[in-house]
Order: sequence, then structure tokens, then C-alpha cells
Amino acid sequence: MTISVDFTQPLTNDYVKEETFFQSLPLLEIKNLSISSLGENKKEDIKLVKNINFTIKSGEMLGIVGESGSGKSLTACALVGLLPKSLKVTEGQIKLHGRELLNLSEKEMRRLRGNEIAYIFQNYQGSFTPFIKIGNQLIEALRSHRKISKLDAKKKVLIWLERVKLPANQVFTSYPYQLSGGQLQRAALAAALMFQPFLIVADEPTTALDVLTSENILDLLVELQKEYNCAVLLISHNLNHVLKRTDSIAVMYGGQIVERGLTNEIRKNPIHPYTKLLLQARPVLSRVVPEKLVVIPGEPGLVAEQGCAFALRCPKSFKKCSILPKMQSVGDSQWVACHAADLEADYTNASS
Ligand SMILES: Nc1ncnc2c1ncn2[C@@H]1O[C@H](COP(=O)(O)OP(=O)(O)OP(=O)(O)O)[C@@H](O)[C@H]1O
Ligand code: SF4
Ligand SMILES: [Mg+2]
Repeated sequence: MTISVDFTQPLTNDYVKEETFFQSLPLLEIKNLSISSLGENKKEDIKLVKNINFTIKSGEMLGIVGESGSGKSLTACALVGLLPKSLKVTEGQIKLHGRELLNLSEKEMRRLRGNEIAYIFQNYQGSFTPFIKIGNQLIEALRSHRKISKLDAKKKVLIWLERVKLPANQVFTSYPYQLSGGQLQRAALAAALMFQPFLIVADEPTTALDVLTSENILDLLVELQKEYNCAVLLISHNLNHVLKRTDSIAVMYGGQIVERGLTNEIRKNPIHPYTKLLLQARPVLSRVVPEKLVVIPGEPGLVAEQGCAFALRCPKSFKKCSILPKMQSVGDSQWVACHAADLEADYTNASS
């Protein structure tokens, strides 16, 4: 059976859900994506994100982890078309349902954001204008993307405030400053989900919240994701959050993905030395106090200019590491960029 799709029109979530044809395709495909800063005369200056590849299917949660400055947010910004003007996608593809997003005009991209891709950023205070009540802001957002009466929009907003477990009527008539951080982040989640997007990009959505509120918000995100079968790209410093909730993981170092694969595989059998150290360095709740906490050697953010980006900090580094390692498959659902991958695959040193 051939199904013809007009990719010049925005796809509605309902339409796609009905079509099993799409379920076999990745929802989002990032191929060979590179992002550079622009120097004088808008010429490519420094390559900040290098040849990134990953896919996400509907209903899948992919986590991106890596230390500060590794390129997680730039990757997220690129795929929602929100890179700062001083930066540019210099090569690669970003396809949503097979449609190339890098070719869309700013107007088309604006229509796509919110409607098809929603994003939740760390700075939830910035998600709302301080002097307009939450309810009015959500109605306005809904009406700017959908043809819907004010009354119906209000009904929908109240339903969604309830869905994210907020006291809907009270929050509807509140100003942002009257809500706690956790309540505001829930309201931001309602703002993202009420459009029933295909993909939610959540960049450090709980970093500014306390431990318990963070857990609750992320659990809620997982619950709603499962209910609506949307895909989630979860970016987090907190490896435990990512290990607990994601289906697959991409580990970034120095603007590159150094290892990716199914979360369970990577948890049990990390292969890249950086992934191994990340797993060993994470705090694990246990009755037994570890004799020695593992610390990743070297200066955080130190990136080798040539060869493997992790070489200057890698305890396994050897001569060949002065050449950039290629991503290679290790098993059915794991890929790694490391010259020592064959040797490393024999170790099983990560705690679960
Ligand atoms: N507007 C910009 N101009 C130039 N360089 C930038 C700009 N924004 C980010 N960078 C650089 O790009 C690299 C990747 O930044 P990015 O914000 O993606 O890191 P990150 O992995 O999200 O870090 P964090 O965990 O701290 O949020 C960093 O070295 C950063 O300094
Ligand atoms: S390629 Fe070499 S330096 Fe890089 S992670 Fe592997 S062993 Fe370490
Ligand atoms: Mg970031």
C-alpha cells in the first residue's frame, strides 16, 4: 500500500497516529549535524557540535547526557530552530517525519514549534510573562496555533492544568510569581502538552527544582508521554534521572556523541571510557558507603583539538587516539567511538 503525504502541510497528531505506516519510521532523524560559531564576515569559526547522528521513534524517550559545554543544548536549540544568530548549522539534516526542518522558513518553523515540537527549558520562569495571568497566557498560546473559541480554549487549558496535577482554577487565575518553581514547571508542561506534539524537547527541565519535585515532574512527563505516545528528548546533567526513565541514551563529549544505544545495554555494558567513568562517578543510593568515590580525571571540558576529544583525560589513551575514532556498532543496539572499543567491551565494570 502506498500512502502519499503532503509534507508542505503540517501533519496533525491524530492523522499520524492513525497511520501505522509512520510507526515504522523514525519520528526524528538527525544526520551528520554540525553547528559552528560564526566569526568575522559570518564565516565559520569554531565547530561546536560535530557530526551528530541519532533517531527517535514515537513513544520513545532518548536521553542526552554529558558534562557542561558538551553541546547538549545547542543540539536541542538547532532542532527547534532556536540557535542564537551567532551560531549556524553548517552541515547535516534534521528530519521530522521525513520532512527536512532546516529548509523551513522562520514562519513555518514558528508554526511547527508548539504544534509539532514542544520544548521545555530549564528556565521555566522565562516560559511565562510575569504580569499576565497563567490562564490568559495559555489561552493566548492555544489560540495563536489553533482555530478555537475563547471558551473552548479555556476549557482545554483547565483540563490540562488538571492533567499536570495542579489546582486548575487557582493556577488559571494566578500570576506566575504567585506559583512555586514546581508549579510553574508543571504549568510549562501543560503549555507544551496541550498541543499534543509529536516530540517534546526537555532541556534540563528540573535542574532548578528540589529533588522530590524533580522526581515528581519527570514521573509526570513519563506518564503523559506514555499516554499520548509522543517522543521525548530529555537532556540532563543527572545521569540517574536519565537511566531511570529513558529507552535510549546518547553520551556527548566535546560536541560529539561518543556512545549511544539502549539505556539498559549502556547501563550494563558501557564501552566508551567516558561513559564508564560517568557511570562510576554518579552517586548511587546504597547502604554501603563506597571506599573511594570515582572522579573523572583531568579538567572538565578539556577537549583535545585533534583525534579523540577525550584523549587528554582518558586513562586508556594510546598512540592511535591521536586519530579521530569513528562510530562503530558493538552489538545490535549500541554504538561507540573509541579505538579501544574491542578491548573495552570485555570489561564489565559499571554498577547497576
Ligand atoms: N552563543 C554562543 N556563541 C559561542 N559559543 C557558544 C554559544 N552558545 C554555546 N556556545 C558554546 O558551545 C558549546 C556547547 O554549549 P551547550 O550550551 O550546548 O552546552 P551544554 O552541553 O548544554 O552545557 P550545560 O550542561 O552547561 O547546559 C560550549 O562550549 C559553549 O561555550
Ligand atoms: S579513542 Fe582513545 S582516548 Fe578516546 S576514549 Fe578511546 S581509548 Fe580513550
Ligand atoms: Mg545546556
